[in-house]
Amino acid sequence: MEKTLILLKPDTIQRSLSGKIISRFENKGFKIIGMKLMKVSRTLAETHYSEHKGKPFFEDLVSFITSSPIIAIVLESENVISIARNMMGATNPIDALPGTIRGDFGISVEYNIIHGSDSETSAKREISLFFNKEEIIEHSKSIQKWITGD
Ligand code: RTP
Ligand code: MG
Repeated sequence: MEKTLILLKPDTIQRSLSGKIISRFENKGFKIIGMKLMKVSRTLAETHYSEHKGKPFFEDLVSFITSSPIIAIVLESENVISIARNMMGATNPIDALPGTIRGDFGISVEYNIIHGSDSETSAKREISLFFNKEEIIEHSKSIQKWITGD
């Protein structure tokens, strides 16, 4: 089953918005199979965002994500990567539609609330950066058949 890494960024925790955002994913029907509060080290931040190394916003991005705790979450569902990205909305809250997470809670491209993996390759890489195997807890829920028919 498809999995994705979600990070609730430092602005979300500081603004006490975590519950509201986690509720959106639970209400959608996604299964949470990993979740923890953590402080991101500089090494982890630079590795996670390595595709952006050299870009003008890279240093600010690394400083921001290491500035205060985050909540890392692994969600599992059919098509969870695309559906979660749609729920998050555009990277820049100027373009994010109302009803999306960034559209409803964000104003700044830097303080944009949330990260979600953008492909299956990224998801595998990012989940293994943030979680060890024992922290991913696969389980079944009887409600599943009323969400996807599985
Ligand atoms: P994310 O990786 O956080 O889920 O966001 P994304 O795929 O929508 O955006 P991406 O292009 O991967 O950029 C990663 C994060 O870098 C910050 N950013 N700042 N100042 C800027 O122009 C700028 N551009 C991107 C954002 O915080 C974005 O989420
Ligand atoms: Mg990205």
